[in-house]
Amino acid sequence: MVARIIPVDPFDLVIFGGTGDLARRKILPSLYRRLADGQMPDDARVIGAARSELDDSGYRAMVREALEEFVPEARRDPEAMARFLECVGYEQIDATGEAGWARLAARMGAGRVRAFYLSVGPGLFLPLAERLHDHGIATPESRIVVEKPFGHDLESARELNANLARHFDETQIYRIDHYLGKETVQNLMAVRFGNVLFEPLWNSQYVDHIQITVAETVGVGGRGEYYDRAGAMRDMMQNHLMQLLCLIAMEPPSRFGADSVRDEKLKVIRALDEVEPADIVRGQYEAGPDGPSYRDDVDDMRSRTESFIAMKLSISNWRWAGTPFYLRTGKRLRARASEIAVVFKDAPHSIFGADRGRHRNLLSIRLQPNEGIELGVTIKEPGPGGMRLVDVPLDMSFAEALGPEADEIPDAYERLIMDVIRGNQTLFMRGDEVEAAWAWTDPVIAAWEARGDVPAPYEQGSAGPEEAQILMHRDNRRWREIRA
Ligand code: BG6
Repeated sequence: MVARIIPVDPFDLVIFGGTGDLARRKILPSLYRRLADGQMPDDARVIGAARSELDDSGYRAMVREALEEFVPEARRDPEAMARFLECVGYEQIDATGEAGWARLAARMGAGRVRAFYLSVGPGLFLPLAERLHDHGIATPESRIVVEKPFGHDLESARELNANLARHFDETQIYRIDHYLGKETVQNLMAVRFGNVLFEPLWNSQYVDHIQITVAETVGVGGRGEYYDRAGAMRDMMQNHLMQLLCLIAMEPPSRFGADSVRDEKLKVIRALDEVEPADIVRGQYEAGPDGPSYRDDVDDMRSRTESFIAMKLSISNWRWAGTPFYLRTGKRLRARASEIAVVFKDAPHSIFGADRGRHRNLLSIRLQPNEGIELGVTIKEPGPGGMRLVDVPLDMSFAEALGPEADEIPDAYERLIMDVIRGNQTLFMRGDEVEAAWAWTDPVIAAWEARGDVPAPYEQGSAGPEEAQILMHRDNRRWREIRA
């Protein structure tokens, strides 16, 4: 199987915050890899824009260092790196003043796709959008890319949307949720809508419950200040897990197009019921052999922010009424493992006798690492002893099924940036979707703040607080094990 690479049109991409962490870690290495693969044309231009006093050659040196640090050695090809650096330039600009803008305007090529990546804090979205507009740099076809956090609550998200809308049409705005760019997340849609096998069973008549787990081993590291204001709810649940929930629960869109897909996702968010306090577990990691406690990490011994959250959600529509969705995410857990598990109901009648135990089908989609799909089926245990039943996995690891190509799974940013250039918004969040997710999130947070809720401590390297296990046991269910 050889991947077919369709080169994108020539473009000028300006990265505001071009010297920042995201640019160095993700945006520039992703662009380099698209060039090395032949998808980014050699005459494309990538212009870093930031406050630092640098010229083109100084920025190229910084970009080279970033590639050496963040592109694995096996993927670094000196010839492709040289070609990539040729495409790179720099403008020193003042995001809130006038310095540098006329030079940037003069640099922009005619008849090419223009994209502006705002890899900066949300406070700079409006001043940058204004200057792009006032200096005639942004054309009606230009694209603007923004990152999370997209707001801190509904009000701030509305304000950001309104600010961007002053100068850009919704069709020009690309709000990144990098989970949507993950290859396996897209696979979720391929599995659901490319096979006839699953869709007839994809409803509360056959599905007992669905579990979504995004477990991380990292702590909050150097991001304590941001994280302590966000917590797992705002940092992960409101966006990444919500997007996964939408893809797993939405109705089949009529086609794989931006508005058809996003209309269906929006309906899921709007159909979410209010969450009862008893259906939420918040946790905070304690000190352990691998590192200090959460409170030490954020340098606030009284912090009540959660580094773990588990919730039971229900969706009020015909397809899902009666099927609970259990979502959990946390830091410093046992393994880095993200999985969606669709647990089917028991067979209506056991012809082998009631004492044969409970056997259930299960479809697990492993998002990362070890990407793959597992279908749990019940078979007869081999050998004598009558009809003894056992559950076994039909396991398909993408690495085994697809061979070397699976090693080449592109980073989410590679796909997403190329989609920006192609003008395809399907894997980006629409403004109303983001607002709907906040409208669901805000009252949940307000309620626990009003109650003075304190997160439950959990051990590093565990599966989160005991209370999260109880959330499931109470319903006679259990979480899947967290393992890499
Ligand atoms: C980010 C969060 O959006 O996603 C981080 O801010 C989190 O806290 C990260 O660690 C997880 O992304 P990935 O791709 O490593 O699963």
